[in-house]
Amino acid sequence: DGDVYRYYANGEWKKSSSGKSVSIINPTTRKTQYKVQACSQEEVNKVMDLAKSAQKLWAKTPLWKRAELLHKAAAILKEHKAPIAECLVKEIAKPAKDAVTEVVRSGDLVSYCAEEGVRILGEGKFLVSDSFPGNERTKYCLTSKIPLGVILAIPPFNYPVNLAVSKIAPALIAGNSIVLKPPTQGAVSALHMVHCFHLAGFPKGLINCVTGKGSEIGDFLTMHPGVNCISFTGGDTGIAISKKAGMIPLQMELGGKDACIVLEDADLDLVAACIIKGGFSYSGQRCTAVKVVLVMESVADALVEKVKAKVAKLTVGPPEDNCDITPVVSESSANFIEGLVMDAKEKGATLCQEYKREGNLIWPLLLDNIRPDMRIAWEEPFGPVLPVIRINSVEEGIHHCNASNFGLQGSVFTKDVNKAIMISDAMETGTVQINSAPARGPDHFPFQGIKDSGIGSQGITNSINMMTKIKTTVINLP
Ligand code: G3P
Repeated sequence: DGDVYRYYANGEWKKSSSGKSVSIINPTTRKTQYKVQACSQEEVNKVMDLAKSAQKLWAKTPLWKRAELLHKAAAILKEHKAPIAECLVKEIAKPAKDAVTEVVRSGDLVSYCAEEGVRILGEGKFLVSDSFPGNERTKYCLTSKIPLGVILAIPPFNYPVNLAVSKIAPALIAGNSIVLKPPTQGAVSALHMVHCFHLAGFPKGLINCVTGKGSEIGDFLTMHPGVNCISFTGGDTGIAISKKAGMIPLQMELGGKDACIVLEDADLDLVAACIIKGGFSYSGQRCTAVKVVLVMESVADALVEKVKAKVAKLTVGPPEDNCDITPVVSESSANFIEGLVMDAKEKGATLCQEYKREGNLIWPLLLDNIRPDMRIAWEEPFGPVLPVIRINSVEEGIHHCNASNFGLQGSVFTKDVNKAIMISDAMETGTVQINSAPARGPDHFPFQGIKDSGIGSQGITNSINMMTKIKTTVINLP
């Protein structure tokens, strides 16, 4: 089966006994690029058992040793940036340069996690009883952070390496074990990343990576009694998972409709540059992409002209050539994006460029004069198409932002810092960026969504804390 990438369990690369595989389609060529094993439920059961026993030993491994192994993995990951980036280019059509950046950023994240972990996990709390009314000083309470157990990590296709390590590294430093289920598009990049952890020499069974069809092992994994925490990044599936999962902590990031509110006094050149970067990087396939521009009518014409001029300069083509706009991840995704564009067009939106598509490649498109009855005003295209809504008051902009079922991030552009803070406070989103585009990074910043955008907070420190539980020991004095 030389053609089919093996899955990783118990420190070994294994063939699935199902004899089945899953094909990964290259978004650019639309031909099968790789194949991965279609693991069975029985294999998932075995992996869960292995992960459970490996975790027990790992929790007893000194913190500094865990950190040392993570630093080693980070260095190996960075050494292997070229072959991993190549997989990202073939599997998810990420521009070559950005693919390398993803791997390097991932190495940095792993190292930072190791450093942060030894500090925040290396200290606990000490409480005495006589600070609470009615108590003598007869009880000493020692608090520490203990691991949760087996963490199920499910990253999305758009950052199959980075959003995998952002779950793996905090889990490991905190003494947990990992069962990783990578996205199908991105699975081979993830397997290569796992190989770097393998080379670093982590104990057998501590890190496992199962591949396969969501229909076969998806629910089985997320509802598995052996799972003690789920860290998921992706789309609507997360809502379904949250309804089915047991009584375990969930960390979820499920997309957004990040609004960019532009006031009359904003630096329009800065806004245009941020809209291009925020709206069109990786062809808009980021949870934190700018997904709707809400601009004051008086400056809308000027802003649209500036953005149009920049859109015209974006290069469109294959990821191997480092084009700005590359094919979107799948044909169904391209069809969905096209559906949103056509709906807006039929309802009277102004298409600032001609709509053009070849296969999964969609040319960048700015849609002006979007109204609330158009689907694109509310839905997340996850593609290089960006709606502009003209507003007559700041309140109108805030209202549109808050009427969304999403609440990941938002931006506000103004030179008036007081107004910016007031608008930030009024926006129901996990983060508001003042005078810049939404972004998750730097990766140690807290990252969270409200409403349908997620549960819990990520970012290195928050993820480490989230993957631990408080344990207290009380010393009772005579
Ligand atoms: O789409 C996933 C989200 O985490 C985006 O991250 O770094 O592109 O802001 P980033």
